[in-house]
Amino acid sequence: MASIFKLLSVVLFLGLVFQGVAANCPIEGRFSISQSQTPDWAHGMPQWKVKVTNKCACAQSQVKLNCSGFQTNFVENPSILNISGNVCLLKNGLPIGIGETVEFLYAWLPKFPFQPISSIGDCN
Ligand SMILES: *[C@@H]1O[C@H](CO)[C@@H](O)[C@H](O)[C@H]1NC(C)=O
Ligand SMILES: *[C@@H]1O[C@H](CO)[C@@H](O)[C@H](O)[C@H]1NC(C)=O
Repeated sequence: MASIFKLLSVVLFLGLVFQGVAANCPIEGRFSISQSQTPDWAHGMPQWKVKVTNKCACAQSQVKLNCSGFQTNFVENPSILNISGNVCLLKNGLPIGIGETVEFLYAWLPKFPFQPISSIGDCN
């Protein structure tokens, strides 16, 4: 009897944990951001390709990266990367689906450590 309760509470606990991950999805782990150097250069600076992947179990819109101090010699399509002051908006604020990757290019040295600031989860 006791072991059934134990099992049930473990199942319930795991369910809550999973729901927590799906619904809250803390900003630190919400996206994976990777970048790699491309063979191309822009005005003497190496060009980098940045990949931002939604790791959350909900689509994310209004995805903003911290662009404080960001510089680039390569002008990316602003509907993919809209730089406004210290904030970069991805994909015009449109939702980035579960597991979807948004890619953009820039050219500078050293590479810039992009961090997500905020996004709005659409869990429906
Ligand atoms: C953005 O990055 C700068 C420089 O690292 C930091 O000082 C600032 O607090 C960050 N802003 C946000 C909103 O995280
Ligand atoms: C970039 O963002 C600004 C501020 O949010 C907005 O006014 C502008 O229309 C955007 N530009 C493009 C090309 O989407």
